[in-house]
Amino acid sequence: MDKSEVLKFPDPRLRRIAEKVSEVTPEIRARAEHMFEIMKDDKGIGLAAPQIGWNVRLFVMNVTGEAEDNLALINPVIANKDGRCTMEEGCLSLPGIYAKVVRPEKIVIEGTTLDGEEVAVEAEGLNARCILHEYDHLDGILFIDKVAPAKKRTLKKKLKKLEEIYKEQKRSVAAK
Ligand code: NI
Repeated sequence: MDKSEVLKFPDPRLRRIAEKVSEVTPEIRARAEHMFEIMKDDKGIGLAAPQIGWNVRLFVMNVTGEAEDNLALINPVIANKDGRCTMEEGCLSLPGIYAKVVRPEKIVIEGTTLDGEEVAVEAEGLNARCILHEYDHLDGILFIDKVAPAKKRTLKKKLKKLEEIYKEQKRSVAAK
């Protein structure tokens, strides 16, 4: 039984365009803090609000596991991108699926922290990779959308399996 609170592909809620947060309230802060817990429990390095069915433009991440590296960004905007690099990605919403994706190497992202502070974050390497991946979730984009077609064909069976699991879980919920 899957106890994770993270929505799994092909849940249609992962495909929505998330809405802007108009004000950073204590409720939003508390929910974002909870997202860090979910992310840790599921052994992820990033989690976007739409992945828990919360349709707002917010994500949390931590690529080192050290508490001081927690980053939560609200209403993020990619202000600059530079270079290109290929890295293997995975996603808590696509368990067991890993594939190489080409993305910018360095970025600047602007957004609001949980304290309501406007920040601009420069990132490269794994940090940039994680930010871009999470940012995509806010627009309903999954990393498999960016995988080269030849590789995507090799993932077909695994994706089909996830679709079957999803249908099965929907049926069992409907039967209750
Ligand atoms: Ni993801």
